[in-house]
Amino acid sequence: MKNVLVVYYSQSGQLESIARNISKPFLHSEEITVTFHEIQLEKPFPFPWNKTTFFDAFPETFLQVPTTLKPVHEKILNTKFDLVLLHYQVWYLSPSIPINSFLKSAEGKKILENTPVVTINGSRNMWIMAQEKIKVLLKDANAKLVGNVALVDRAGNLISVITIVKWMFSGVKKNYLGFFPLPGVSEKDIQESTKFGETILSQFNQNELNDLQPKLVAIDAVRISPYLVTVDKTANKIFNKWSNLIYKNQKKRKLLLKIFYVYLFLAIWLISPIVYILHLITYPFKLKTIKKETQYYQGV
Ligand SMILES: Cc1cc2nc3c(=O)[nH]c(=O)nc-3n(C[C@H](O)[C@H](O)[C@H](O)COP(=O)(O)O)c2cc1C
Repeated sequence: MKNVLVVYYSQSGQLESIARNISKPFLHSEEITVTFHEIQLEKPFPFPWNKTTFFDAFPETFLQVPTTLKPVHEKILNTKFDLVLLHYQVWYLSPSIPINSFLKSAEGKKILENTPVVTINGSRNMWIMAQEKIKVLLKDANAKLVGNVALVDRAGNLISVITIVKWMFSGVKKNYLGFFPLPGVSEKDIQESTKFGETILSQFNQNELNDLQPKLVAIDAVRISPYLVTVDKTANKIFNKWSNLIYKNQKKRKLLLKIFYVYLFLAIWLISPIVYILHLITYPFKLKTIKKETQYYQGV
C-alpha cells in the first residue's frame, strides 16, 4: 500500500476544487491511500477581503513571515507519505502566508522530509518567482520537487487584475458588469486538471517520478509568458523595498500602506503598459534568453 497526501489551502474553494480534480485518478487506485490535509490558521484571513485587510497582508506575505497554524492530524504526522501533492496560491508574488507557514512549520517539515512533492498552483497569472521561493522552502524542508503544474486565469493581464480584485472583494465569482470574463482559473481548466493527475499517477506507479516534469509540460501543465516573467522579476525588486520599509516602520504602517496602494495602482496601470511596449520592441533581440528562461521555468 502506498500513501499520498494532498495538501491545500483555499479561501474561495478554487484551489480545493483543483486539488479534488487532480487527485481524482489516485482515488480509483486500490493500492493507494489518499489523505487530504487542509491547512488551517489559528487566526484566519478574511474572505471576502476589503481594501484595508488586503493591503495589510502585503508586508508579511512578501517577507514570508509565517503565522500559527492549527495542528496537523496525528495520523498524518505518523504516516510516511510516498508523494505529496502540494497545492498553493500566490499572494503578492510569493507563496501565500498559509502555505509559507506550512512549509516552515516543524510539522510540515516532518511530513515533507525525503518525500517527493508535486506543486500545483492556482493563481491569477504571476507565479514564476513564487515558485522559485517554493523551491527554496522545499529544499529547506529536505523535500524533493519532482513536478509542477501552474493553473492560471487566461484572460489578459490587466483584465484579470480587475476581475480578480472584484472577486476577492465580493467573494463571488461572476461576470463583472456583465461583459468581463469570469475571474480566476476557468471551470474548464479546473475540470480538465484531472489529466495532470493521471500523468502524475502513471509516473508514480512506474516509480518514475524523476521523469515526470517533461511529461507534464507536454500536456500543457506549465505555460510561460516571457512578458509576465519580466514584470514578476521587476516587481519583486520593488516589493522587496516596499515590504521592508513598511515592516520596519510599524508606527507609520497605515500611512505607508496607503502610499503603497497608490504606488501599486500607478505601477499596474501606467508602468506595466510601458513595460509591455518595451518588451514588444526588444523581443526579437532577446529570443535566445527567452528560450533558455522558458525551459528553466517550465522545469523543476
Ligand atoms: C492578497 C492576495 C494577493 C494575491 N497576489 C497574487 C499575485 O501576486 N499573483 C497571482 O498570480 N495571483 C495573486 N492572487 C490570486 C491568488 O493567487 C488566488 O488565485 C486567489 O486568491 C484564489 O485562491 P483561493 O483558492 O485561495 O480562493 C492574490 C490573491 C490575494 C488574496
